[in-house]
Amino acid sequence: MADRKTTRVFVDCDPGIDDAVALAYLAARPEVEILGVGAVFGNNTVTVTARNALRLLALYGRPDVPVAVGAGRPLVQEPRLAEHVHGDNGLGDVELPEPEREPVAESAAELLVRLARENPGELDVLAVGPLTNLAIAIGLEPRLPELVRRLVVMGGAVEVPGNVGSHAEANIVNDPEAAEVVFAAGFDLDLVALDITMKTVATSDWLDRLKEVPGERAERTSAFLDFYADFYKGIFGVRQCAMHDPLAAAVLADPHLVTEAFEAPIRVELTGSLTRGMTVADRRPRPGRDERRVTRVITSVSGDEFLDRMLDSLR
Ligand code: RIB
Ligand code: CA
Repeated sequence: MADRKTTRVFVDCDPGIDDAVALAYLAARPEVEILGVGAVFGNNTVTVTARNALRLLALYGRPDVPVAVGAGRPLVQEPRLAEHVHGDNGLGDVELPEPEREPVAESAAELLVRLARENPGELDVLAVGPLTNLAIAIGLEPRLPELVRRLVVMGGAVEVPGNVGSHAEANIVNDPEAAEVVFAAGFDLDLVALDITMKTVATSDWLDRLKEVPGERAERTSAFLDFYADFYKGIFGVRQCAMHDPLAAAVLADPHLVTEAFEAPIRVELTGSLTRGMTVADRRPRPGRDERRVTRVITSVSGDEFLDRMLDSLR
């Protein structure tokens, strides 16, 4: 039986450069037990994201964590990939050794459901890709929101512009129907949306400090982020990059980093010709009159402490 301070985590991801850095953040914490990783389409195909997850867990010193292949496409729409952001191989075209093992036979949804049933009330879930695997898992196990202690999602753009079109964020718009299922399901849900991730960036100075850190983990991660920073230079105008997924990992592992949040039911626009995939927060004062459980939308964090912890996780 793990001691009480141990955090048991399932990570659902589409590595993906920032997904990689999120895995590094969690893998560096001895008190974080990564019970399983689910791969999903998104930044690349699910075949590529699953193999990248295996490679990354070996790189970050967790070679025994089971990786399960999840959905290769959204529930309804056709898949849209993002090689231009994460490179053709999903890791900034940085070469990592071939994985020395295969994914497990279970699908990502089945692994998540089994782990939730085996750890009732004690499994935290970090979702940093499209939410297709979570929606499928809810279909397999309707009690999932009660079995899972806490769900942290990187996704959405609640009161800020989107990053795929004017109003939508990539993880949500990559499978809006799945996201709507998740926001409606009743999880204890923290949302790490663009509202906070576009304000919590790895600056050029931080990226330079990372280059001073010796060792393969830091060197490979720095190379991933060089590719990512080049993409984000086109957005920010300076060499820096948003730390979407690592910030979500930090909110899960170090909740004290959250300094401000608001609670509101979140719904996903499914039919808007201009707004499909938008995350809509109903912030009207209607206590108890919305059947949908509120989501905690993170709006402020201790950014410097997060970045210091992120650097430390790679030392
Ligand atoms: O919008 C950012 C999100 O989309 C991150 O999770 C990134 O990895 C991509 O999946
Ligand atoms: Ca991701």
